[in-house]
Amino acid sequence: MSQQYDVIVAGGGAAGLMCALGAGQRGRRVLVLELADKVGKKILISGGGRCNFTNLDSRPEAFLSANPHFCKSALARYTQHDFIALVGKHRIAWHEKTLGQLFCDGSARQIVAMLLAECAANQVEVKVAHRITGIDKADRFTVTTDHGAFTSSSLVLATGGLSIPKMGATGFAHDVARRFGLRLTETRPALVPLTLNVPELSGVSLEVVTRLGRASFREAMLFTHRGLSGPAILQISSYWRGGQEIAIDLLPDVDASSFLKERKRTRPKAELRTVLGEVLPQRLAQHLANEGTMANARDRDLDALAERLKTWKIVPTGTEGYAKAEVTVGGVDTDELSSRTMEAKKVPGLFVIGEAVDVTGWLGGYNFQWAWSSGWAAGEAV
Ligand code: FDA
Repeated sequence: MSQQYDVIVAGGGAAGLMCALGAGQRGRRVLVLELADKVGKKILISGGGRCNFTNLDSRPEAFLSANPHFCKSALARYTQHDFIALVGKHRIAWHEKTLGQLFCDGSARQIVAMLLAECAANQVEVKVAHRITGIDKADRFTVTTDHGAFTSSSLVLATGGLSIPKMGATGFAHDVARRFGLRLTETRPALVPLTLNVPELSGVSLEVVTRLGRASFREAMLFTHRGLSGPAILQISSYWRGGQEIAIDLLPDVDASSFLKERKRTRPKAELRTVLGEVLPQRLAQHLANEGTMANARDRDLDALAERLKTWKIVPTGTEGYAKAEVTVGGVDTDELSSRTMEAKKVPGLFVIGEAVDVTGWLGGYNFQWAWSSGWAAGEAV
């Protein structure tokens, strides 16, 4: 005999637990089925173990999707302030680090404990180490696992994206959605380091503005032995497709042309590289400038160098892939889902939430906010 529930949530991550506790609050009988031996593994490692759980500035423009309007409804109905209130109710101390990013003072474990406490208070059952081996739909969904079968009237796919396969990320939600006839958008690794062959600069870091199309981010950039990383790069990586050029302003606060010409007047004997070293890390200055003194540099060469410093154009050779990507861009096509409830339009009772959906946030707590908001939206409807 299979055990009966109102709601089965596949995946005990951020979105799944939020959905479960919301549905539980409404008196629904809820089961969470988690493949791993514990829930919320990505929450635990997030934000360097302190979980950047939301962003004060969360707004629809901070999310990428083939339909940029889709996220608006859920984000408006369960906001960053709602989540902050929940964190406050559980007396979890937090602080703003930078750019509206909120972190636990203590540990990400507090966020998982909070979600589990809310689930327990609302009689949600959570089963870990359960592998789903089959899903069938007749009047109800039947979910078969390696520990028996369960049925429900609603099934929520909350198994996340493809990032970090080593941590158990699978294409499960995508595969099930596809099997039920839902379309997917193209997926690719996002918030991911980019590869570029400049090993001689490994270790150099500086604040820059990265630009691609209409997207631009002013944050730190770090040269690694494989290419480029740091928040300015991770952010722009979500917009990048193979072969595209990224423009980087290496001197966001400096009018480079005026600066160089002024130094030519006031420090004519100085090496160009030394002058550049006033405003750039020394090794980067060495890399970018030719040998020679300021006096020997023609104004038009200084203009060309200034242009290069303000718009350093790179074409990355690739990304470091899902192994290093914080999130996945793309997923279940939002056209297939109700933006109010996350229910599949053509499969009543089937819901998709969190990273499995084609909605991806910027770096800085936005992805968890999407997990909370989309999870809550479904929790109100299942
Ligand atoms: P999530 O991945 O959280 O949960 C999915 C769950 O489903 C997992 O528990 C998984 O084990 C389970 N599962 C998978 N396959 C299954 C199957 N077949 N059956 C049953 N269960 C299955 N975001 C942010 O806003 N702030 C931050 O600080 C960070 N930091 C961060 C660091 C690192 C290293 C990574 C990789 C990612 C982040 N993120 C982040 C992104 C954030 O972790 C991510 O967007 C959310 O966890 C997505 O929530 P979901 O619930 O959709 O998936």
